[in-house]
Amino acid sequence: MFENIKNHLFDDKELKVVENHLKKFPSKKSATLPVLWMMQEKYGYISEEAMEYIGQLLEVPSDHVLGVVTFYTMYFRKPTGKIHMQVCTNVSCMLRGGYDIYHYLSDKLKIKNKEKTSDGMFSIEEVECLGSCGTAPMLQVNNQEFYENLSVEKMDGLLEELKNKYGNLEYAKY
Ligand code: FES
Repeated sequence: MFENIKNHLFDDKELKVVENHLKKFPSKKSATLPVLWMMQEKYGYISEEAMEYIGQLLEVPSDHVLGVVTFYTMYFRKPTGKIHMQVCTNVSCMLRGGYDIYHYLSDKLKIKNKEKTSDGMFSIEEVECLGSCGTAPMLQVNNQEFYENLSVEKMDGLLEELKNKYGNLEYAKY
């Protein structure tokens, strides 16, 4: 199916999965989200090259792919730390100290938005509502875990907990 494309970012097995995604949708374009997710699962982020490649696979301009990547905070355009913390600062979280948490982490780790620590362990990102307003303030780790009802006082303990949990990964999962 993809014979005319220089297939260098997905192997044959992965291209089969892409084909299966394509079968689920009326147009190739509709498979943008799952194919991007596959790419990020494999490489940890979505490079410019990956966006061009996915554009070819799905027969859409790479600008469309870029638009999707930049719209959703679950996609990363550069490598993150092993522990990527997305701190919600939207209304509910903001009212309950979300910015205090964000600034505490930023100051303690000496990194700004979307930066990672020099040892590659942590990165932070300020994000909009993650759908857990009832347990605000909260943050999400590595696109998969919520930590809720947070406070600045809990942050040192949380950083230790996360380091023990993810610190031995050989590479950043995301
Ligand atoms: S405002 Fe933070 S989860 Fe909704």
